[in-house]
Amino acid sequence: MSNDHFETKLVLAGRRPVKSHGYVNPKLVRGSTVLYPSCADRREIGKRRLEQEEIYGLYGSETHFALEAVVSEIEGGTHCQIVSSGLAAITVPLLAFLKSGDHVLIPDSVYGPTRRFCDTVLVRYGVTTTYYDPMVIEPALRALIAPETKVIFAESPGSHSFEVQDVPMLSRVAHAHGAKLFMDNTWGICTFQPFRHGVDVSIQALTKYIGGHSDIVLGAITVATEQDWAWLRTGALDLGQYASPDDCWLALRGARTLNVRLDQQAANALTIARWLADRPEVQRVLHPALPSCPGHEFWKRDFTGACGLFGIVLNPTFDYGAVTAMVDSLRLFGIGASWGGYESLALPTSFTISRSEGTGSFGGEMLRLQIGLEHVNDLIADLEAGLSVLRGQAHITCSSPPCMAGELEDRRGVEQAQ
Ligand SMILES: Cc1ncc(COP(=O)(O)O)c(C=O)c1O
Repeated sequence: MSNDHFETKLVLAGRRPVKSHGYVNPKLVRGSTVLYPSCADRREIGKRRLEQEEIYGLYGSETHFALEAVVSEIEGGTHCQIVSSGLAAITVPLLAFLKSGDHVLIPDSVYGPTRRFCDTVLVRYGVTTTYYDPMVIEPALRALIAPETKVIFAESPGSHSFEVQDVPMLSRVAHAHGAKLFMDNTWGICTFQPFRHGVDVSIQALTKYIGGHSDIVLGAITVATEQDWAWLRTGALDLGQYASPDDCWLALRGARTLNVRLDQQAANALTIARWLADRPEVQRVLHPALPSCPGHEFWKRDFTGACGLFGIVLNPTFDYGAVTAMVDSLRLFGIGASWGGYESLALPTSFTISRSEGTGSFGGEMLRLQIGLEHVNDLIADLEAGLSVLRGQAHITCSSPPCMAGELEDRRGVEQAQ
């Protein structure tokens, strides 16, 4: 199977027709108690906690193991643990690998809830965090390493500001120091092979492209060594991590069509990104495949493609009120959290959405677009109409009541969760 193309592997992975009574798809197995023929059998199997065997509901079932096999295949790792959400796929390995007194380096562009977890939970357990510039160069990163640094975290590109990181460099620095490199690889699903670029622990929010239909919340953590697996599996079980087999089954169904959805959404997104780059209302397009995106050179070097999520920076003429008026006017773009589903979404966002103080800005209001499977021309027509609404709002200034500090705080709170 190893010489098969990726598309073929996606069709074959995790399927064991003998186990599923000949049916094409793995069984949906629900359950807590597993019965054993004898006490001796139960004692024996209880010793194999780290293995993916049906021991007790919490340890997973055929359905979980099938999805874990699929995600391992996609990510290019050896072992995968399914957890309850994409956020749990971030927090579980941090808790599993770190202990009191350790230090972690997190990119300043990180997904807001990851930052909140470091600042509110890890800190209570004596783990300190330093936020680093996602575009950091090697000497500056080395200077941030302390004897206690045990994990460098990457999220590439950042899911709001889209900086593509130099992952091989992060890996070199981490490993020279004996630390691990974790990466939230949700954006890079299928187009970035984390373990080939030196990542130790790869994180996927399956809620996004593997689910693909905006109907589940699920996460996966993949590793590529037995030692990392022992840490991860033990940590996940000790934390009581579990995911519904129904959701795993839906994720398995989503995974079989992942490549065709992703290809189409990525193609639509690139067409729209290029169209937006020529619009006078747009100052900059933050799409990793375009030179205007920070870290584009790393995308060109390390990725084989893109997905359907990117951002734009509008001209400074337009304030937050104007951007929300534009988004409210769109017919085909929903206003909502998440991405990776089959439908398009638009969300006002900002450079500072979850950054450290004083880290600058792109100099204009930002919009994040998740491009779905609608016809690309319909999406462009919708955006064109939206941009004319935006132009009509150009005179509104930020001193009007809706943009007061309280509103700004609310906006940060809501947007960080996405
Ligand atoms: C980059 C990134 N990682 C992780 C997550 C968390 O995923 P979930 O919503 O499944 O917890 C998100 C959610 O938006 C995300 O954008």
